Amino acid sequence: MQNAGLAALGLNWRYLAFEVHPEDLQAALGGAEAMGLIGLNLTVPHKLPALGMMDVLDESAREWGSVNTVRFEGREAGGVWRPLGEWTETPREVRAHGFNTDAEAIARALREELGLSLAGASILLLGAGGAGRTAALKLASEKAARLFLVNRTRSKAEALAREIQTRYPQVQTAAGYPSGPVDLVLNATSLGLKPGEPSPLDEQQFCLRRAGAVYDTIYRPAETGLLRSARAAGCRAANGLGMLLYQGAKALELWTGRTAPIDIMRQALEENVYGPHPC
Ligand code: ATR
Repeated sequence: MQNAGLAALGLNWRYLAFEVHPEDLQAALGGAEAMGLIGLNLTVPHKLPALGMMDVLDESAREWGSVNTVRFEGREAGGVWRPLGEWTETPREVRAHGFNTDAEAIARALREELGLSLAGASILLLGAGGAGRTAALKLASEKAARLFLVNRTRSKAEALAREIQTRYPQVQTAAGYPSGPVDLVLNATSLGLKPGEPSPLDEQQFCLRRAGAVYDTIYRPAETGLLRSARAAGCRAANGLGMLLYQGAKALELWTGRTAPIDIMRQALEENVYGPHPC
């Protein structure tokens, strides 16, 4: 999707994937900077350790506690830092600027793909790992009214509930299933990735007929068991491809300073993940 986006913008840039051992992250970031790379994305398990390796952190990285996008910037003679994508020569002094585009991507996907307004919403969130924590904090910051947190390891859901109660005291937060209806069930666990895995939702504890919408952060397979049950129960439902798209589109905008060609990026992403469209 990034290469399709870059081509549509007429930029002779390339987006490449590299596998980096966790112990080599600092060296890899230093190498990228030394070689004049414009920017990069980081994924699991690099997002948290990278926080301490940036020269400057954007508010988004500080707020959500992780870095998924790095923009390299050069210092002009006057002291102003400009993104490396804007430079024609190589600047003498370069810094790494860390951003997080994941959290905003979750909110955008929920708004655009499920038509949800997050302010005032009641939400059942499954999963309290890295993705679950970011989702919970973002939903709280968007003024969700009630958050119910469920996780296999209950103590993690309880710790996350306490963190939200401290940072966003106006949001009613509890660990465990709700007794009434919710606007959204959001799966942020990894359950459903592999065929035959059980649903992350215990339907004895919560019936999907009580949910308005279901979002699964998993996008492969395109329809998890949870999404199938959600559609059968009459819920609006969407998978996590939109989250992946929107975090990437925002990263592209940070590197290029231009509006991401979202439709072209979406099509490239869908073709790469699900295969070419039949028509
Ligand atoms: P990510 O950064 O993608 O969120 P993670 O931090 O490892 O990855 O979190 C994975 C989530 O999936 C956690 O909520 C995890 O539950 P635990 O905190 O109890 O480990 C959940 N998960 C993974 N495998 C699971 C399984 N077999 N049953 C239930 N939950 C599972």
